[in-house]
Amino acid sequence: MTSFSATAVACANIALIKFWGNRDSELRIPANSSLSMNLDGLVTRTRVTFDPSLNGDQLTINHAPASAEGMGRVKIVMDLVRKMSRLDTFAEIASENNFPTGAGIASSASAFAALSLAASAAAGLQLSERELSRLARRGSGSACRSIPTGFVEWQAGHDDESSFAFTIAPPDYWDLVDCIAVVSETHKPTTSSEGHKLAATSVLQRARLADTPARLDRCRRALLERDFGCLSEVIELDCNLMHAVMMTSIPSLLYWQPVTLELIHAVRGWRESGMPVCYTIDAGPNVHVLTLAGFVDQVCQTLSQIPGVDNILIAKPGGPASLDL
Ligand code: DP6
Repeated sequence: MTSFSATAVACANIALIKFWGNRDSELRIPANSSLSMNLDGLVTRTRVTFDPSLNGDQLTINHAPASAEGMGRVKIVMDLVRKMSRLDTFAEIASENNFPTGAGIASSASAFAALSLAASAAAGLQLSERELSRLARRGSGSACRSIPTGFVEWQAGHDDESSFAFTIAPPDYWDLVDCIAVVSETHKPTTSSEGHKLAATSVLQRARLADTPARLDRCRRALLERDFGCLSEVIELDCNLMHAVMMTSIPSLLYWQPVTLELIHAVRGWRESGMPVCYTIDAGPNVHVLTLAGFVDQVCQTLSQIPGVDNILIAKPGGPASLDL
């Protein structure tokens, strides 16, 4: 019997309106809709080879065997692909990130987007963008946003069929750039998957969720009108609301380090002095500083002078998950 293989590449993404908390954690139906930008150049490349001689799926991440936790999540996507294609063959899966390991950039979004496309193509399926987005969501929620191109909205929906992501503007729509200030991590943070389970224990989550549709509308409008001032206001508010929920969960999650707070103050100061900059922060201490293309050098230079900033990664709006032919 022959083996069937395919390779796919997908970008990481940064949420401008965050997803935090699941309505259904098995199906990964989120508690709220979210909006993100794909990060050009920060990619996972995954090769999937179905091989009849294997008696279990095999997974390497950056050439090293994966953990049992990673394997378990990959198996969810692989089993769905096998079911859809009526295949009962196991596969060898090799996944590589081109961004530095330990840089604190979540790789699950790019990884599960690349896996979904590579596995379905290797199995001979031709899934639509929506079907791929739904499949990627089953491995990691935010991965559904790394399937479509550019600026992407994930409609929370209420079941498997209605929860998927779609493009609201192509990558070249606006010359936004994400300058990611990577700061040293002193302890292992709680993973997003664990954090989502705690969201409902915060008394603030209900208020955060009630106002999310309005923030999402404001963010979409700011993006479509290329209004940096409005974008700054709404994404910083959304980020702060998510971190307020994290901090007031039981147990409390505090992802910020002292340098994170220092960067928040710095960004606000630069904006007051006329620079188009704003921040957003995921489940970790790194600060994503968004600016316009013409200001990247200035922003990176200023960021690099802050003690505790170890590295700066720069990403423009990125394209869709694609097959490497
Ligand atoms: C803070 O998508 O990483 O980055 O579904 O458990 O893999 P899992 O969670 P994940 O959560 C992302 C949380 C966030 C906000 C966001 O990207 O919307």
